[in-house]
Amino acid sequence: MESDLNPYSPGSGRRPFELVGRRTEIDAFDLLIAKSKQRRSDRGIVLHGLRGVGKTVLLNEFRRQAERADFMTVSLEGRDAEGGPAAVRAKLARGLLQAGRKANRRGITSTLREALGSIVSFSAKLGVTGIDIGVDLARGRADSGSIEVDLEEMVEDLSVAMAEQRLALIFIIDEMQDLDEALLTALLGTQHMAGQREWPFYIVGAGLPNLPSVLAEARSYAERLFTYRHIDALPHEAAVSALVAPAARYGATYEAEARDLLLEASGGYPYFIQEYGHAAWETAPEKTITTQDADIAVTIGRAQLDQGFFPSRWKRATKGEQEFLRLMALDGDKGSSTAQLAERVGRKQSSMTMTRASLITKGIIYAPAHGRVAFTVPGMADYIQRQHRI
Ligand SMILES: Nc1ncnc2c1ncn2[C@@H]1O[C@H](COP(=O)(O)OP(=O)(O)OP(=O)(O)O)[C@@H](O)[C@H]1O
Ligand SMILES: [Mg+2]
Repeated sequence: MESDLNPYSPGSGRRPFELVGRRTEIDAFDLLIAKSKQRRSDRGIVLHGLRGVGKTVLLNEFRRQAERADFMTVSLEGRDAEGGPAAVRAKLARGLLQAGRKANRRGITSTLREALGSIVSFSAKLGVTGIDIGVDLARGRADSGSIEVDLEEMVEDLSVAMAEQRLALIFIIDEMQDLDEALLTALLGTQHMAGQREWPFYIVGAGLPNLPSVLAEARSYAERLFTYRHIDALPHEAAVSALVAPAARYGATYEAEARDLLLEASGGYPYFIQEYGHAAWETAPEKTITTQDADIAVTIGRAQLDQGFFPSRWKRATKGEQEFLRLMALDGDKGSSTAQLAERVGRKQSSMTMTRASLITKGIIYAPAHGRVAFTVPGMADYIQRQHRI
């Protein structure tokens, strides 16, 4: 069918044609908005799950919801590809300045206008200047040079001013497990304080399956700060509509067997549904996607994944780390015991701890339980078995 009309969207954070199976999360965020408007407090939300399940897409949706409610929103990613922690802070400052600039419009209350000065001083301390948001720096607020103190003061000034108007300040943080410790503890401390003082300030974060334990290690009370939502493959019915509905919008249908073939290949994982749906659309000559079309689409879709989604992770590993991953691949997606991995190659477990730690830092594996490791990427074990078997 016509490529221009292909309604599937394989890619990072790309909004799917139909955002199915995530009603609970969207409703939870709507409730947070509704409560804020009534000046009742709630908890922030933390989404955690494997690669490609749709966490970023959901965060983007939350951002839209928050913006519709006129809340002040600032987006942030846990790690900067080049610049390290300083670059992440600078990005936070720029995001705040942009949000402040947007808020500084006709009808703004004098309290909020004054509070925007704290953004300017907070940002200046982080070395971000030269973005004029139309207010002066607030001397003596958010300018101590300690990220913990300054973040809290800035959030206090803004959220107290927003509360008057029944609005809220929302930080949307993707790949949250990658935040450096100082910024992470400052954020958690501020969220903690906000809960106690009833400031309408919420962190909404997303990250890998180890995110809840990263947060708990940073601050023991983190467990109570957020509503945690595990984002996983789509349940069967939602997976069916994720595959079928986009095509249906353009009058195309799947033969039942074709549909099942593609769904099975995808395992219900949103990224894979998009990739296989995309391939099916490209493969089918007619508006009915047949079993033969689906067969070919599975081959093409998988080749596509083998050239993009998987190797982008594989290539980030060093030779030694790739060896470790190969060993893990023998256990499939369910994960491995580190003791057994060591045994498999006749090495001491302690000789593998550096490799293990480095793969966790790179976000390729995580520790689902003590003494265990698993891939953060669904289907990675199969990919390694297919492409990189020794
Ligand atoms: N609910 C959904 N229904 C259908 N497709 C979806 C859904 N959510 C996400 N997708 C699709 O899945 C793919 C991955 O989404 P996204 O980038 O948000 O995943 P992620 O969990 O953030 O992955 P990563 O951990 O690699 O950042 C995208 O192609 C997106 O269009
Ligand atoms: Mg993401």
